[in-house]
Amino acid sequence: MSDGPATLDIDGLLTRTPTVRRRLDLTRPVARPLLAQCLRLALHAPNGGNRQNWWFLVIDDPETKAGIAQYYKAASDAYLDAAPPAAMSERAVAGVRHLADHLHQVPALVLAGTRGRLPHDAPLARQSSFFGSVYPAVWSFMLAARSRGLGTALTTVHLAHEREVAALVGIPADEMTQVALVAVGHTTGESGFRPTPRQPLDEVVSWNRWQQ
Ligand SMILES: Cc1cc2nc3c(=O)[nH]c(=O)nc-3n(C[C@H](O)[C@H](O)[C@H](O)COP(=O)(O)O)c2cc1C
Repeated sequence: MSDGPATLDIDGLLTRTPTVRRRLDLTRPVARPLLAQCLRLALHAPNGGNRQNWWFLVIDDPETKAGIAQYYKAASDAYLDAAPPAAMSERAVAGVRHLADHLHQVPALVLAGTRGRLPHDAPLARQSSFFGSVYPAVWSFMLAARSRGLGTALTTVHLAHEREVAALVGIPADEMTQVALVAVGHTTGESGFRPTPRQPLDEVVSWNRWQQ
């Protein structure tokens, strides 16, 4: 079965939207109206109390991307050098390094965040709602992008330098929280994407009573 955007049904979209790092086309710009269309769809995502506190900052200016990429690379290197994720294959880790090395060339970076700052002692329900009110929209954006022939990589590693990145793009960091940075580009290569590998359902799902 082909999995080009035109032939992807909803299940195909949900299973074949991988993190695209090596197959982002670094030479082909992504049109702003296309990004706006994906963001417009993302705004239909669920969010706590329908407060819609989310915000999105699209960065396609080369100089600004280069500034962010420097912080991204420093944070990514530090993260991988300290503790490369055990669950990630060597190939995947190489992909992480590749993205960090080329982030400045990625056509568009979408910084997603939310209004306000979370107190350090915030109760769990508030923490979950705070960040969880942004991620559904981020994922909707990624799915909309994928269905239009774009690839995305959801990242958070730059948040180690949240304040520096805020200063770079003018975000009032005492009032706004960055949540994720999504790299966006058209995809390269003729082959489609395989379903993302995941564990069997039974390992993570129980019914009526905890059984794991
Ligand atoms: C909350 C979150 C943070 C992530 N942060 C990063 C990141 O900083 N850099 C990166 O390259 N990938 C990042 N990823 C992507 C994951 O590494 C990726 O989703 C995972 O390895 C599974 O790969 P797949 O999405 O291709 O199936 C992040 C994903 C999530 C959900």
